[in-house]
Amino acid sequence: MDIAIIGSGNVGGTLARRWAAGGHTVRFGSRNPESEKLTALVAEIGDNASATTIAGACEGADVLVLATPWSATEDAITAMGDLTGRVLIDCTNPLKDDLSGLAIGTDTSGAELVQGWAPGARVVKALNTTGSTNMENPAYGADTVTMFVCGDDAEAKGVVTELVSALDFEVCDAGPLSAARYLEPTAMLWIHLAYQQGLGPNIGFRLVTR
Ligand SMILES: NC(=O)c1ccc[n+]([C@@H]2O[C@H](COP(=O)([O-])OP(=O)(O)OC[C@H]3O[C@@H](n4cnc5c(N)ncnc54)[C@H](OP(=O)(O)O)[C@@H]3O)[C@@H](O)[C@H]2O)c1
Repeated sequence: MDIAIIGSGNVGGTLARRWAAGGHTVRFGSRNPESEKLTALVAEIGDNASATTIAGACEGADVLVLATPWSATEDAITAMGDLTGRVLIDCTNPLKDDLSGLAIGTDTSGAELVQGWAPGARVVKALNTTGSTNMENPAYGADTVTMFVCGDDAEAKGVVTELVSALDFEVCDAGPLSAARYLEPTAMLWIHLAYQQGLGPNIGFRLVTR
């Protein structure tokens, strides 16, 4: 697949590395596509990666990935252009600026705001409930981390399920996009356990069933 990734930090960089290694083409959409840091990242990933403007990356891509800080997300979406009909993976978490908690929630979610900023896009919330360390490697012995995915468009969710499975996560369909109201607090729990409770980033949530 041809994947546009908006944001080239911990999440964007890690997802790009993994998908490119799996044979997908990744194009970073960046405010500074020629920056030293991004040039080095593209060179490290190799032939399957490139960087351009945010609008340029989105042109013709099969899937668009939002991996921006929450405070930059609305502006990034505006820079992406018309997203009608496009599959958009929202990896963001609507964190307060000091990371002390979620800025919104319970009766809406970041994902639903993203949908409002990108009318007509097929928004799927995914890859927000675990750290980028687990995106690099979700395996814990024989087990793997569960990745919750939610969205209102079944076909888009299918595409995202394929891409998330390719990262070696076990995918759990959490239902409609409004279930992001539960996924975003789940991300906050992961952050709390990792950084306030001192468990560190090598932890992950796994759904067990019987
Ligand atoms: N870190 C994690 O483990 C983790 C896990 C799950 C979800 N998340 C969520 O994923 C999102 C990204 O997290 P991150 O840790 O990857 O952040 P990060 O390392 O700070 O990277 C964010 C990237 O967004 C781009 N960006 C920054 N300001 C921007 C703006 N005003 N307009 C457009 N792009 C801008 C930058 O790329 P350019 O300089 O190339 O534009 C930057 O590299 C956040 O919402 C976070 O809550 C993070």
